[in-house]
Amino acid sequence: MQIFSPSADTWFRAGLAAFAVLVAALALVGGGYARSEYLTQVGWTRDQQVPFSHKHHVGDLGIDCRYCHTSVETATRAGLPPTHTCMTCHSQVWTGAPMLAPVRKSLATGEPLHWRRVAQLPDYVYFDHSIHVDRGVACVECHGRVDRMPLTWRAKAFEMKFCLDCHRDPAPHLRPPEQVTRMDWSDWSEDRAEAFGMAAMRRFHVEPARLDSCEICHR
Ligand code: HEC
Ligand code: HEC
Ligand code: HEC
Ligand code: HEC
Ligand code: HEC
Repeated sequence: MQIFSPSADTWFRAGLAAFAVLVAALALVGGGYARSEYLTQVGWTRDQQVPFSHKHHVGDLGIDCRYCHTSVETATRAGLPPTHTCMTCHSQVWTGAPMLAPVRKSLATGEPLHWRRVAQLPDYVYFDHSIHVDRGVACVECHGRVDRMPLTWRAKAFEMKFCLDCHRDPAPHLRPPEQVTRMDWSDWSEDRAEAFGMAAMRRFHVEPARLDSCEICHR
């Protein structure tokens, strides 16, 4: 019995040739693909148990980031709010809303709400919120206009280049630390901002050459 038809060899060769063309094509588009939104996840939202809106809570109601992300000034992690933080208001407003049923259930059972993350680094990168906040790097530099997001998304590609571009020249990105949570902070002229940035660099002894070294972020 014949397993391969006489034409099988021809098909096999044609397949090989097609594969080679595909590999070459992938190598060509590879450069663009590496920076595409598919890989960086910029602009993606995720289905959440509760459709929490920063646009409503920050943009419209004006709640400060630190009310919910309580450890952002003191720890490596900003922290996500526990259920009772939501319930300080939602035991009074929107009390019966079906949208908030998972929040009420979480309070009753003690089982924390589970949020799917949108802005996460790979494990091999070390990051620390407190030092950035302390030096006056604003939330908006890395998280964008959170106050305009009905569902949260990643605003910036957290690629190495993003971190290094600032670490090599942080001065223009510094503002008074008490202003870091303001989303629309642009009161200053360019000259004043520049003078402030240079002064802050001296005050904190920030050395761009050191911030560039691998051990800073890969420990
Ligand atoms: C300081 C008070 C306050 C806190 C804290 C708060 N909310 Fe709200 N929330 C409101 C108010 C007021 C509304 C109604 C907004 C409107 O419709 O204008 C609202 C509306 C909502 C809605 C309805 C959809 C929407 O955005 O209008 C959801 C869902 C919600 N909140 C979830 C949460 C969750 C989850 C938490 C905790 C992480 C939370 N809220 C914390 C005050 C608060
Ligand atoms: C009322 C509570 C509340 C306030 C105020 C608040 N947040 Fe949030 N934040 C949340 C909750 C709940 C989540 C998780 C759900 C989500 O991703 O939307 C979250 C998620 C985030 C995330 C996504 C983290 C990740 O990796 O998934 C970022 C970034 C963020 N918040 C930044 C901010 C900034 C910046 C401010 C101030 C401008 C702010 N938040 C104000 C409750 C709050
Ligand atoms: C210099 C960039 C940068 C600044 C400034 C910054 N963040 Fe983040 N943020 C990140 C990165 C990177 C992550 C992901 C960290 C990880 O996965 O290890 C993150 C994660 C988060 C998360 C997810 C939960 C957590 O505990 O990490 C929240 C919430 C958040 N940031 C809020 C804020 C708020 C609020 C501010 C301003 C007070 C702020 N961030 C300032 C870069 C920044
Ligand atoms: C917009 C500017 C800016 C961006 C973006 C930024 N950083 Fe920083 N980073 C700073 C400044 C300013 C300091 C404080 C330097 C100092 O005081 O010596 C700092 C300090 C740090 C430190 C602590 C260094 C030490 O002294 O131990 C780590 C770790 C770090 N950054 C990681 C990151 C990572 C990872 C990213 C990208 C996800 C990032 N940073 C993005 C400005 C930035
Ligand atoms: C300011 C922070 C920072 C510094 C300094 C830094 N890296 Fe990274 N590195 C990152 C981040 C963030 C990523 C994650 C990139 C991603 O997920 O796309 C990364 C990813 C990497 C990767 C994984 C492959 C890749 O490119 O995505 C390698 C390898 C790497 N870094 C090597 C280095 C070396 C070598 C140095 C020193 C010359 C260095 N890094 C300095 C932040 C940093």
